[in-house]
This record gives sequence, structure tokens and C-alpha cells, in this order.
Amino acid sequence: MNEAKFIKYIPQVNFDENEMNERSSDFLDFIRKRRTIREFSDKPVHYQIIENAVKSAGSAPSGANQQPWHFVVVRDLKTKNEIRIAAEKEEKEFYENRAPAEWLNALSDLGTDQFKSFLEIAPYLIVIFEKKYGLDDNNNKVKYYYTKESVGIACGILITALHFSGLATLTHTPSPMNFLNSILNRPANEKPYLIIVTGLPKKHTKVPLITKKSFDSICTIVK
Ligand SMILES: Cc1cc2nc3c(=O)[nH]c(=O)nc-3n(C[C@H](O)[C@H](O)[C@H](O)COP(=O)(O)O)c2cc1C
Repeated sequence: MNEAKFIKYIPQVNFDENEMNERSSDFLDFIRKRRTIREFSDKPVHYQIIENAVKSAGSAPSGANQQPWHFVVVRDLKTKNEIRIAAEKEEKEFYENRAPAEWLNALSDLGTDQFKSFLEIAPYLIVIFEKKYGLDDNNNKVKYYYTKESVGIACGILITALHFSGLATLTHTPSPMNFLNSILNRPANEKPYLIIVTGLPKKHTKVPLITKKSFDSICTIVK
């Protein structure tokens, strides 16, 4: 270990045990209120909220701190329209031809279809790209480690930050998503990872009645 590189100390955040319990329980109540919304209001949302959420995502841990992500915030109506047209083309093909029956069956309770008006109605689309490798100053490839895991964690923080700010989100994955590179002018080392659609929910919008697995079924405790 190179000591010289590790001489900066950061203050520890210390809460007493009661406070920690209370904070964890409050967070659980809060995060359980997050739901994927598929109908958005076109009401504008202050840009700073989006920037703060992306900065939160950019603070995520990543393999070797390589931060293998790029976020494109789309507010421009013409670009949102181009994304909608391209996504609906792929989704039509998906629902009509590409999707195996098993996949369609898994989606059937969610009421999703090939029409994606939310891509234009919601005030912001945040498109996350995974950098499969980096490029140095001479344009040579730099190997990146654990890119998928790192970008997944950053997206989790992004969704949590948006929810914390009072915004709704939809995680959208038209398949395939390569069209996003050309519409958004992103380089070949970046692969579209997710579109996070965000804004306020449409008034009286409904969400499917789904349940989450019980704690006992998702967690094993080794005592
Ligand atoms: C990787 C990923 C991809 C998803 N893709 C879509 C999508 O393309 N369209 C959609 O309507 N929902 C999509 N969802 C949302 C899920 O359907 C939703 O999270 C799930 O039904 C659970 O509902 P909840 O988010 O309200 O808890 C996706 C979620 C994830 C994590």
C-alpha cells in the first residue's frame, strides 16, 4: 500500500444506536413508497433537481474508481420525439415478433405495450451509458473493470435520489437500444444501459398491484 496516497482522513458520521435504528426504519418506509410510474404529467421540473440526482449517481462506488458511466439528460422535445419514434419501432417488433411467449407472459400483469408516449410527455429522459472501456489521451483503449455492476449501482442511486426529491421514475429498456448512440451522438465505447424517464406522475395515475418477496425468501442469515 502506498501510504502517501492514503493520508487523507475523512470525518466519520456517527449516530447513536437509537438514531441508527430510526433512520434505517424511516428509510425503509420511504423507499417502499417508490413505484414505477408509466403515466407522467408534462408539468416542468426544475433542472437543478435533475442535476443534483445525476451528481448523486456520479458519487457511486465503481470498480477501481473508473466511473464507467455517462449520463445524457434530454429535455429537448425534438430529441425526445426522435427517441420515442425509434423506441416504438423496436417495441412494436418486440411485442409482435421478437418476444418469446414466456417473456410476454411475465409482462402481462404490468399492462405494458408498444406505445411509449411517456418518452415525450415526461419533462426529462436520463439516458445512462455504460462505458465498456476507456480511452487515454492518445485514443488507446483502457480496460475498465466491473462496468455492469458499477453502472447498476449508479442507476440505483439515481432512482433513489429522484424519488427522494419527490419525482417519479420509469426504468425503460427498449430492446435493442443502439439507436440511442446515434440520436444522442455517443461514441462506440459507450453502450446504452437504461433510460430513466422522470417527472411528476399524471394526476390519479394508477400502478399495478404487485408484491415484493418476503424478507425470509430473499435473505439467508449466517449466524
Ligand atoms: C432493468 C429494468 C428494465 C425495465 N424495463 C422496463 C420497460 O422497458 N418498460 C416498463 O414499463 N417497465 C420497465 N421496468 C420496470 C419494471 O417493470 C418494474 O420495476 C417492476 O414491475 C416492479 O415495479 P416497481 O418498480 O413499481 O416496484 C424495468 C425495470 C428494470 C429494473
